[in-house]
Amino acid sequence: MNVNGKHYRTIWMENDKVIMINQNLLPFQFELHEAKNYQASIEAIKTMIVRGAGAIGVAAAYAMAQAFIEAKGDIKFAENAKKEIEASRPTARNLFYATERVFLAGCKSAVKAVSEAQQIADEDAEAGKLIGIHGNALIKRNSKILTHCNAGWLAFSDYGSALSPIYQAHRESKNVFVYVDETRPRSQGARLTAWELHNENVPHTIIPDNAAAYLASKGKIDIMITGADRIAANGDAANKIGTFEKAIIAKTFGIPFYIAAPLSTFDIHCKSGDDIIIEERSEDEVLYQTGLNENNELTRILVCSPGSSAYNPAFDVTPASYITGFITERGIFPAEKSIIKNMVL
Ligand code: MRU
Repeated sequence: MNVNGKHYRTIWMENDKVIMINQNLLPFQFELHEAKNYQASIEAIKTMIVRGAGAIGVAAAYAMAQAFIEAKGDIKFAENAKKEIEASRPTARNLFYATERVFLAGCKSAVKAVSEAQQIADEDAEAGKLIGIHGNALIKRNSKILTHCNAGWLAFSDYGSALSPIYQAHRESKNVFVYVDETRPRSQGARLTAWELHNENVPHTIIPDNAAAYLASKGKIDIMITGADRIAANGDAANKIGTFEKAIIAKTFGIPFYIAAPLSTFDIHCKSGDDIIIEERSEDEVLYQTGLNENNELTRILVCSPGSSAYNPAFDVTPASYITGFITERGIFPAEKSIIKNMVL
């Protein structure tokens, strides 16, 4: 995707360094962050400098490749690094899928680990491009689309999942309009999705997280498309906290609810949503917000009652029965166990 007329991927590797767009500074500052070794890459995943299912998968792949470079043939070192990478964030399937693939390649040589990581980044971008082409078929002219969190190019190495069909529809002048859930507490919608859509000149507006039912009741939403972090074999899908609420609203008002995700997000070894580990993050993400002060400086302020605690589950699981279908790089298919198995294997 382009920023100020220059094409960027969200994350890439240069020699033994991993370079990524610092998502914690967006939309206020566009800066690149450099992770010099595998531990710095893990830290970037944990602190969400890089975030989004696909992008953390690619970050994990590069971290594993860095570990093999640092290991200099010491397989125990690489094994320990693998465990550390896998412990960085628990929910997104891509992180585990990518780490495993690069680990197997790295057992042959560090060079092979790097090229496998590169391959994963390229596949991630290609899947996003195809998701855009397939998903575009679902978007009618003049559609009003609701999306949650950020499942755009920042959440992958390029193109994105849920936003990719929207970009494609916009490129075809379908006159689409996007309602962007703000997505508290990290505000991935208000900060990142809105920033991406603004850059691409896609008409949109940010809505409070609790406005979707009102808009749906007034007939203002034609279709909802979100991403996913892990999809179980039975079609239950984990995504950013608040997604399940949107799916309930969609079902109540007869609005199609689609999940866009590459096949690398499907986990056929995970029987149902009950088996998906839901990450719980620091209460500080709920209690504090970061933004620009009147001097244009990034500032963190308390936005809740002093002394109260907060609970911060980062994801929820939408049961398969609420999902109209999955948009993948191999096409669109319903949330049914037998079909998922055929598509993924
Ligand atoms: O910002 P994160 O990494 O906590 O959130 C993950 C996501 O990006 C979303 O859940 C997204 O909708 C999934 S698709 C990239």
